Amino acid sequence: MRRLLPLLGHSGGSRDAMTCMYRCGNACDHPAPNTSDNPYLGDVVNASMSRRGVMRAGAAGALVLGVSGATVGAAVPATAAPAPVAAGPAPKPGKAGKISFKAIPPNTLDNLVVPNGYDSAVVIRWGDPVVAGAPEFDLGRQTAKRQSQQFGYNNDFVGVLPFGNSNDRALLVVNHEYTNENLMFPGFTSLDALSVEQIKIAMAAHGMSVVEIERVGRTGQWKPVESRRLPYNKRITALETVFKLTGPVAGTPAVKTKADPKGQWVIGTLNNCAGGVTPWGTVLSGEENFNQYFVGGDGVTEADKPKLNRYGITTTARYPSDSRKWERAQERFDLAKHPNEANRFGWIVEVDPFDPDAPPRKHTAMGRFKHEGANVIVAKSGHVVAYMGDDERFDYLYKFVSEKKYRPGDRKHNLTLLESGTLYVAQVTGDSPAAEIDGTGKLPSDGAFDGTGKWIKLVSGNKSFVPGMTVADILTYTRLAGDKVLATKMDRPEDVQPSLRTGKIYAAMTNNTNRAVGTNPGVDEANPRSANKHGHIFEITENKGDHTGESFTWTLPIVCGDPAAADTYFGGYDKTAVSPISCPDNVAFDSAGNLWISTDGNALGTNDGLFATPIEGSERGHLRQFLTVPRGAETCGPFITGDDRSVFVAVQHPGEITGATVEKPVSTWPDGDYAKPSVVVSWRLDGGPIGS
Ligand code: FEO
Ligand code: CA
Ligand code: CA
Ligand code: CA
Repeated sequence: MRRLLPLLGHSGGSRDAMTCMYRCGNACDHPAPNTSDNPYLGDVVNASMSRRGVMRAGAAGALVLGVSGATVGAAVPATAAPAPVAAGPAPKPGKAGKISFKAIPPNTLDNLVVPNGYDSAVVIRWGDPVVAGAPEFDLGRQTAKRQSQQFGYNNDFVGVLPFGNSNDRALLVVNHEYTNENLMFPGFTSLDALSVEQIKIAMAAHGMSVVEIERVGRTGQWKPVESRRLPYNKRITALETVFKLTGPVAGTPAVKTKADPKGQWVIGTLNNCAGGVTPWGTVLSGEENFNQYFVGGDGVTEADKPKLNRYGITTTARYPSDSRKWERAQERFDLAKHPNEANRFGWIVEVDPFDPDAPPRKHTAMGRFKHEGANVIVAKSGHVVAYMGDDERFDYLYKFVSEKKYRPGDRKHNLTLLESGTLYVAQVTGDSPAAEIDGTGKLPSDGAFDGTGKWIKLVSGNKSFVPGMTVADILTYTRLAGDKVLATKMDRPEDVQPSLRTGKIYAAMTNNTNRAVGTNPGVDEANPRSANKHGHIFEITENKGDHTGESFTWTLPIVCGDPAAADTYFGGYDKTAVSPISCPDNVAFDSAGNLWISTDGNALGTNDGLFATPIEGSERGHLRQFLTVPRGAETCGPFITGDDRSVFVAVQHPGEITGATVEKPVSTWPDGDYAKPSVVVSWRLDGGPIGS
């Protein structure tokens, strides 16, 4: 008899129980790990249709079946220079982007839906060959070795980095956040019953992929280059890829292990969620819910237990029932035997896709938490500033300012920028009376959820700014440092990204159904709704436009949910003209500066999707739904190419609904058999820019 996973009980959020189990180790079922008495802001203030089928839909809801076929042309060897990426900010004040596509209606179809006038196609799917000579996917013959050469599972971040000035050749860099063994292995019964080889397959399906892609004809469609020689294509895995630790924590006792007595090299990366592309042509990737891969937390010293707890690692049982069982394949995941191994995860990873031989690096100067991702902007001073979110209920927003300055064209120098600098955490204050923030989402009398904020310095170079903590302590146990300096507890800060057009920063607060519930922290102006089911967007304006500064103003341009509900807000725009949106997760910009938002866990009962809105001028808040993903999936990426002609999204965990298996899938997207996480590209049929 098929036994379902343990602990599929679930959870205050809107995600399916199976997603909670595999993606974040049932984070919602555990108490939020931030139990610090760091007061919340309120306290501070007051004291499937066909193989590779795609669908298009009009606003009226009429759905039209379209086709898209991947044709394969001859490959041309690529040249190795990365394209110059806009180093921003390039403010062009008041120039509002225009969006012209007609919003698609919410739906529950098992397909990818884009507006009329657009098409879409799968670029690459789980199991497709990546490395030159990789075997074709064969579900019944899968091995860790084969998976290590093929596209991994559950694609999340997507970056497209062009070669030189080419409009037609690029490297696609993708995160593979986690695996779902129920949907990967025929005959799955339980994680305990997996063979060691199957566990290694899962480890090889984690990580990242680099894939050379080319434009299809003169359209906005892209496809993998097919060639016997693919010098840039590679897989980075949790199983065997070696990472170099950089920055102040490298070589310190907290990261030394039996296998790495000098604390310099780490095998693998875990739970890579969102990320960003740097102006020097590399990719940053966030190691997020790394806690769920470890057992044996009960075996560490009493002094270390609070440090593990603050990161969500169980210390009361040897084998937490929702662990991934990886210690059966590699002993290092047992903290009772290797207590420092967990300290080697939870970092920002930098990958140089244009130098396939360079080891990827984990930058300890950027702090250790459940990193959603990191996005950078070059400040007026030339310093590079990275904005980052810690994706957990009641956790914090951070920024990192490089010690050295960006040098245009000096790639070797720029590759060192994230190895040393200053790390800050955000503390925000509302400007309305606390009594007007009543938890219902009703706007205060000044008409906005808004206020001011401070960037509190935690560490700068080799100097600690947190009493009682060394530099290495602060960077290794960054959450504890944030607690001490009274950082503001936010509603799950996910992707944070500066607009290179205006220099303003946008952060997605996905949701927090625990807000003001029971003994949990109450509402504040920056997190104004009790039991926040639908999330909101947090907009930061650095004072004097100085990204290296220590003060900012903020506002909530969008408070998500059903626009017909009183507790939602869309920049003051007419709410009868906007699309419903729930659980914003990733943000991105097109070159006109329009804000694109993808969702994870739509609590309105329809499929997740991708949305776009102008964020400046009179159209601010005119949010429209561009795309929906198939049943059970979340929309990740998104990435709009520099020419605005293509938008890439990652369709993550299609068909991930409790009870689904390979044999009895709930989604058969994209090929009509069983669900396969895939990267998709959408483009305008007339070749015009996406969105406008
Ligand atoms: Fe992997 Fe924060 O979502
Ligand atoms: Ca206000
Ligand atoms: Ca995410
Ligand atoms: Ca982003």
